[in-house]
Amino acid sequence: MNAARGPFTITELNRLHGAGEKIVMLTCYDASFATLAEQAGVELLLVGDSLGMVIQGHSTTHPVKLDDIIYHVRAVARGAKRAMIVADLPFGTYQTSPETAFANAARCLAAGAHVVKLEGGRVMHPTVRFLVERGIPVCGHIGLTPQSVHQLGGYRVQGKDEQSANMLRSDAKLLEESGASLLVLEAIPAALAKAITGELAIPTIGIGAGVGCSGQVLVLYDALGIYPGRVARFVRNFMTDGGSVGEALQRYVHDVKAGTFPAAEHAF
Ligand code: KIV
Repeated sequence: MNAARGPFTITELNRLHGAGEKIVMLTCYDASFATLAEQAGVELLLVGDSLGMVIQGHSTTHPVKLDDIIYHVRAVARGAKRAMIVADLPFGTYQTSPETAFANAARCLAAGAHVVKLEGGRVMHPTVRFLVERGIPVCGHIGLTPQSVHQLGGYRVQGKDEQSANMLRSDAKLLEESGASLLVLEAIPAALAKAITGELAIPTIGIGAGVGCSGQVLVLYDALGIYPGRVARFVRNFMTDGGSVGEALQRYVHDVKAGTFPAAEHAF
């Protein structure tokens, strides 16, 4: 990230996307890592509900509360001077009504977030529109949506057959039409992610979705190889070449920008 350009805003996101430059997102949960990550060039810091697994030790993201996200957003906001902070809305804080989603998203913005992320396709269409029309930028998230893990039957790759692939394509379009500013595509075939990216004007951020997305995101603890749980195929441990945490984060940024991460072995 170019410090001389000032804060990384939605305008800057769109400028990078328009210029065909890859966008770098990483999850982040505290001030020290926020500073290190943005010094390494990470543009978007996601305070993900993955914190329920990597920090709190739960086996799903379900126990994460809005207050947990707000606590970590505040910490990240103290450490980040330029990066865009994306707050994940936890399970149960946005599904019941657009009004509830707005009230909870507003708390995230008051804590220092710039964008909120929520999971789901067509069913979230009215909620995304409601938030965007009231001034809250939204990041969508489709494919493997961890908050639906029990309904999906596990952490499985999505969109493998024609019907579910078409459903994801139309969900992506609907979220764009609702006003979402960007869209996370998680654990879907690389060819499908590339097709969706080509069909949208907004940037896509892939995780387990191949190199054809507009940018990439990883869970910080996976990128540093410090999560003791099961590690997904799409993860690369950027510490394996040695050096410091700062250097590992720089390698992540470099490899995403250069299009060398994810490689074929990280894709489905
Ligand atoms: O919570 C999270 O970290 C996420 C990413 C995996 C995209 O949603």
